[in-house]
Amino acid sequence: MAAPTSGSGRVLIVGATGFIGRFITEASIAEGRPTYILVRPRSSSSSKANTAETLEKKGAIVIHGLMNDRSLMEAILKEHEIEIVISAAGGADILDQLTLVEAIKSVGTVKRFLPSEFGHDVDRAEPVEPGLTMYKEKRKVRRLIEEHDLPYTYICCNSIASWPYYDNRHPAEVLPPLDQFQIYGDGNVKAYFIAGTDIGKFTMMTADDDRTLNKSVHFRPPRNKYNMNELAALWETKLGCTLPRVIITEDDLLSAAAENCIPQSIVASFTHDIFIKGCQVNFSVDGPNEVEVCSLYPEEPFRTVDECFTEFAAKLGKKVNPKGEVAAQNPVMESIAIAATCS
Ligand SMILES: NC(=O)c1ccc[n+]([C@@H]2O[C@H](COP(=O)([O-])OP(=O)(O)OC[C@H]3O[C@@H](n4cnc5c(N)ncnc54)[C@H](OP(=O)(O)O)[C@@H]3O)[C@@H](O)[C@H]2O)c1
Repeated sequence: MAAPTSGSGRVLIVGATGFIGRFITEASIAEGRPTYILVRPRSSSSSKANTAETLEKKGAIVIHGLMNDRSLMEAILKEHEIEIVISAAGGADILDQLTLVEAIKSVGTVKRFLPSEFGHDVDRAEPVEPGLTMYKEKRKVRRLIEEHDLPYTYICCNSIASWPYYDNRHPAEVLPPLDQFQIYGDGNVKAYFIAGTDIGKFTMMTADDDRTLNKSVHFRPPRNKYNMNELAALWETKLGCTLPRVIITEDDLLSAAAENCIPQSIVASFTHDIFIKGCQVNFSVDGPNEVEVCSLYPEEPFRTVDECFTEFAAKLGKKVNPKGEVAAQNPVMESIAIAATCS
């Protein structure tokens, strides 16, 4: 494969104040790229306004607007000579991207578009509802991109490195369990767990790499492949004790999905797809329009799940030695969290 081209293109990131968008924006700034972020006016909560401010202080250039305002998007793309557009719109706003796609088509100067994907291959995976509806919307965006012959990259980064709570769409924002593990099925189905910072870093590396043009990029670092039983055992080494396991059956997950309580039921349907059906591991990445990220950047390390769990333990006040084992405990932090653990 040819060597990647250098990363200096002017980037516009939509959804920079969101969970995934923040990681991508920070990676883009860290790479020294001119990084513009589209921030929704008014609608943002104060915490999101703070996020925009923080990103601005780090070097992002804030533009206010909505991606579903076509004339505004055309003006922004032209005025700032944007070469790469990355969308990290949330699940409820996936179809807003259709207008953005039309604007990119009409301007005709964008060299790469990365739509809001950042999960599974939505053409391949078939979760139960209500997750399926989100995939159908993501597929619709893909088809419009392809119909307009726009240069694209689809990022299929699998799961975020954290405990995969079946009712929390941003599990990396909470600690792994302190009282008991909920294990899906027999706990033996594997998945890939990627640190948010690596989702950002590798997304930016692909964004103007010739080898990822019009391809799906799958994130499959071998060391980040775990099943739930292994994940639980790893967290126990950080806690320094064992926790009870409770089985969440396939039927339990299907019932949680069928409740159609949004967004929790969407997460339940994806959890079923990952940990019961094995949607991340039941195919090989060998099609003409897909590539595995480690084969592109073999020298570039991924943060391991072990490192991410060590970081969670540090938040708990656990002192972890270089081997990743509990060496000592901070009594103050410990007293806050300990009530339910290690009894
Ligand atoms: N692999 C994983 O584990 C994982 C986990 C979570 C999400 N994901 C995927 O990652 C993607 C992003 O999800 P997320 O949870 O990070 O989303 P999120 O936290 O809800 O953030 C969405 C962002 O999009 C912005 N936005 C929405 N509609 C917009 C519009 N019309 N114009 C401009 N900005 C708009 C929001 O602006 P405001 O700040 O104004 O709301 C926010 O900044 C989704 O495709 C999701 O499926 C993957």
